[in-house]
Amino acid sequence: MKAAKSPAISHLELREGIIRTCVEINRIGLNQGTSGNVSHRTEDGILITPTSLPYDMMKPEDIVDLSWDASYEGRHRPSSEWRFHRDIQKNRPDINVVLHTHSIYCTTLAVHEKPINSFHYMVAVAGGIDIRCAPYACFGTQELSDHALEALEDRTACLLGHHGLIVLADTFEKAIWRAVEVETLAKMYVHALAIGEPPALSRAEMERVIEQMRLMSYGQMPDVSGVTDTPRLKGEKGTSAKAAGKASGKAKSVNAKAAAKTAKSATKSAAAPKAAVTKAEKKSAPKAAAKAAKSAGRSRKGS
Ligand code: 13P
Repeated sequence: MKAAKSPAISHLELREGIIRTCVEINRIGLNQGTSGNVSHRTEDGILITPTSLPYDMMKPEDIVDLSWDASYEGRHRPSSEWRFHRDIQKNRPDINVVLHTHSIYCTTLAVHEKPINSFHYMVAVAGGIDIRCAPYACFGTQELSDHALEALEDRTACLLGHHGLIVLADTFEKAIWRAVEVETLAKMYVHALAIGEPPALSRAEMERVIEQMRLMSYGQMPDVSGVTDTPRLKGEKGTSAKAAGKASGKAKSVNAKAAAKTAKSATKSAAAPKAAVTKAEKKSAPKAAAKAAKSAGRSRKGS
């Protein structure tokens, strides 16, 4: 599994990114109230939303800094779902963000314990031929975390039975994008089911779609700052491979300078001090948490 790039931005920016994500998912109707939670990987654990705090009141210092061993630093308790955030981030080095919502259509299917099959080719945005539905387990439990981890094997999204949705991504923007796509698929599926179970695309066709998405880097958001994207210059013979190569060569040399500048500023911000949450406030999660962390570590070693 490819390791995700380690976050090269300061913790303050990550905290702000978590809050922006929470506010945005509520604004666009992907979530409501204080349901849902968001985490981002750090060097030694995760930053995660606190439990039950309305998103529009959330400040960077409210975000909880939780270590792999489940000890945490912050002025609030971490989200009740810290177990699945911690376990997923620990077991999936290919992602940085875990986003959990109670979006309406995903939850509509989840209360029927119904996975999203290949009724539409876009299910491949979650990395496979379907989007599984994890069996029900009580919120906040190790059992729920174990079910979620299993349903997410080789996937970047799953439904949680009688509960909601989890999506994984390398960035906050990508997590929101994927959650919107999965919720839209769920909505289409619910509508399609109203006139009967729709036929599903075959495994072979879905494998072709997955390969096509890989070849086209489908869903890869253009780099809006233009640092890594390769513009094709107007007037160049864009369709010939030679011309495209020439254009991209030019663009690359222009972009290399910008990239170097960005890398420099990212290194600077990575070296910035940790957001102000005092060590004196350090608390320990319950004993069960430490036990769960230990057992998660064990199962990882075993896999
Ligand atoms: P928290 O407020 O504890 O994050 O809980 C919300 C939720 O969605 C539980 O599944």
